Amino acid sequence: LSSEAVVVEKFSHDLRGIARQNGKTIFIDGAIPDETVTITYTKSKKDYAEARISEVLEASVARVEPECPHFGVCGGCSLQHLDAASQIKYKEAVLLDILARVGHLQPKQVLPPLQAAIWNYRHKARLSVRYVEKKSKILLGFREKLYPRYIAEIHTCKVLAKDIDAVLKPLALLLESMVKMRAISQIEVAADDASVVLIIRNLEDLPDDDIAKLRAFSQLDIIPKNFILYLQPNNAEPYPLFTDKALLSYKNYFRNLNLYFYPTDFTQVNPSLNKLMVLKVVELLALDADDVVLDLFCGIGNFSLPIATLCHKVIGIEGSDLMVERAHNNASLNNIDNVEFYCYNLELTSSIKALSLNKCNKVLLDPPRSGALEFVKNIDLFAPKMIVYVSCNPLTLARDAEILLQHNYVMQQALVMDMFTHTSHVESLAVFTRS
Ligand SMILES: C[S@@+](CC[C@H](N)C(=O)[O-])C[C@H]1O[C@@H](n2cnc3c(N)ncnc32)[C@H](O)[C@@H]1O
Repeated sequence: LSSEAVVVEKFSHDLRGIARQNGKTIFIDGAIPDETVTITYTKSKKDYAEARISEVLEASVARVEPECPHFGVCGGCSLQHLDAASQIKYKEAVLLDILARVGHLQPKQVLPPLQAAIWNYRHKARLSVRYVEKKSKILLGFREKLYPRYIAEIHTCKVLAKDIDAVLKPLALLLESMVKMRAISQIEVAADDASVVLIIRNLEDLPDDDIAKLRAFSQLDIIPKNFILYLQPNNAEPYPLFTDKALLSYKNYFRNLNLYFYPTDFTQVNPSLNKLMVLKVVELLALDADDVVLDLFCGIGNFSLPIATLCHKVIGIEGSDLMVERAHNNASLNNIDNVEFYCYNLELTSSIKALSLNKCNKVLLDPPRSGALEFVKNIDLFAPKMIVYVSCNPLTLARDAEILLQHNYVMQQALVMDMFTHTSHVESLAVFTRS
């Protein structure tokens, strides 16, 4: 496929460079607006093409040398060539563009982005494992960027928490020494301040020899933290091999609350940004002692507990029984008694109708990527004076925001948060008030 020089006009929503040639839009991986680059096509369709850079002829001032030796091959990151300040600036532009195009609206005020640790921020990850006969070795890591069916051969990862990064090599060596190494398909990692938990998915039972090797590994002094090893046979419930279940925790900046979780629970992957996000949400909700706040998609109570310390009552709603149980425990462990947690599927109209019997004057939404459509469609049943929306997908935020506008809400403020630096994920916050 041919290689030719093009000028990059702008970024796409997933922060690939866009250039145009002969009426065709070209999405160029690794290119930055205003650069002149030569490209190699990786895909060519009737009205668009995809390409990667062969050579940068004129570089943007925002271009930096990627920190990671595996950048470009590993699919874990896509933006290490762009300085971190520009990454978040462009993500803000993506959010505003999507709000305008999809939601036909713009916030009255754009607040400064939230940015915390930009390296070693990920405290959770799912790593693929495969024994590759041709290389006679175990590969442990993320999928390759260009060929996602392959696992990238990585020795280090600059976005994983330092302690997780430090175990990557020893872990691959451990797996390589096991009789049943071909039966290991994935390792899920979760870390807190005291421990690193490794959940090893085994597709076949492991012989005693392998279990003995895992025990020896769990006692090594590779990092200052505890290693806690779990096995997860064939997608069954994971169980700890040599210890009790690992109860992990993180501290909130806010009133030193301690949030406890099990390694497979949903928690925000970037704890340093999470701390700033919780503070910001609490600030934006402008709480007073009479407020009753409905916290939808509340998880383990990440926002519910801090909010409860400043208002009359919080009602937290979650789709998972286990998370509701965790949220209850977190409330009692932190001596907070003005919160209630219930399990409802928030995709069902019947759930939303049942919930509307609760009186609340403020609502916090933190939905998964699919958004909070059923809730916003039925917003008149609740009619809160304020809604704070935490979003991991600007497309569903924009869709839901447009519906809120049709119901007399105004988007007062919006901001982006650098939750997943060096990737194209856009995490944002928006505040709506009823006009
Ligand atoms: C982005 S997480 C937010 C969790 C929490 N607010 C936090 O900050 O840790 C989304 C949460 O929504 C829950 N969830 C997903 N689908 C749901 C549904 N249909 N109904 C209710 N909860 C759901 C998940 O279990 C998860 O805890």
